[in-house]
Amino acid sequence: MLLDGTDASAVERAAQMLADGELVAIPTETVYGLAARADDDAAVARIFEAKGRPADHPLIVHVAEPDGALQFASDMPAVARRLADAFWPGPLTLILPRAAGMAEAAAARQNTIGVRCPSHPVARAVLAAAHRLGVPGAAAPSANRFGRISPTQATHVIDEFGDGLAVLDGGACDVGIESSIVDCSRGHPVLLRPGVLTQVQLEFAAGEPLLAADADAPRAPGTLAAHYAPNATLRLMSQQMLTSALQVLGDVPLKLAVYSRSVPLSAAKGVRHRRMPLKPDQAAHELFSVLRELDAEGAQLIWVEEPPAEPEWDGVRDRLLRAAAA
Ligand code: TXA
Ligand code: MG
Repeated sequence: MLLDGTDASAVERAAQMLADGELVAIPTETVYGLAARADDDAAVARIFEAKGRPADHPLIVHVAEPDGALQFASDMPAVARRLADAFWPGPLTLILPRAAGMAEAAAARQNTIGVRCPSHPVARAVLAAAHRLGVPGAAAPSANRFGRISPTQATHVIDEFGDGLAVLDGGACDVGIESSIVDCSRGHPVLLRPGVLTQVQLEFAAGEPLLAADADAPRAPGTLAAHYAPNATLRLMSQQMLTSALQVLGDVPLKLAVYSRSVPLSAAKGVRHRRMPLKPDQAAHELFSVLRELDAEGAQLIWVEEPPAEPEWDGVRDRLLRAAAA
């Protein structure tokens, strides 16, 4: 069931559902989230059930205002404060030490909590309205079934879960890939998941280098190798490899789609070509919806040209590598 995110009464209704412990899909600037009140373990359990997500994979809590993080965190380390000041509201999740007894199920009982203050006006409106009804924050993973592509449009969410779920429609998500995640709970900040904020931007605001995730980094399903997978088999190739593969391609027995910045010289007959944007932000914005469209067209193979080896492309490259690993 679609609810119009620009309609104040629909936003109120969604907030009331959250307050009542029900699930509502909400738009954010990154991707759509499947939300439940974070302080209600039974409500949060419904998220895990609907997604088919293992119960030991923690969720991100979304708050209406940056200060709302302090409801869930026992402490805001200085580096977290600097990052929040620079990027909240926005596409950044901070892992913080968790306030005792708060959001046990959302945190998958770890002693840390992921918190994000999103910038999407509809997300902020529904979180603020729910807050007025006593909801301190909403736990919300991406609104897709476990291991599948994150939804960037309200209709994608309906495609994942059916029309029985209430989906607050806030249009197509601006950013298009999930938030950057920085762990600030372990002394030195660690980049657990790249997003559209570049490492340089994050380090500049943090005032110190971000370490790379290592073996004892906390569990993050978004960091499993195989994730964000379309139905089609996806392969990443250099431009050169792609060009020669297309040249030697005879009759394609499978439905093949190519997603590349360059236009293949001799796109074989019957091969579907989609042009990848030259700008990383635009590529991120459309990435998941392009993969969904190619799936819907029945593509069995998707050959994708590797993004440029530049830090601005880290988020897009990360998602493509995971889709290719599936
Ligand atoms: O942009 C986003 O972050 C979207 C929107 C809806 O906000 N949400 C999202 O949620 O991508 P999800 O559940 O699909 O991915 C959350 C990631 C997972 O990799 C999870 O393991 C990690 O955040 N995470 C959450 N809490 C954590 C914690 N306490 N410690 C380490 N990682 C955590
Ligand atoms: Mg996800």
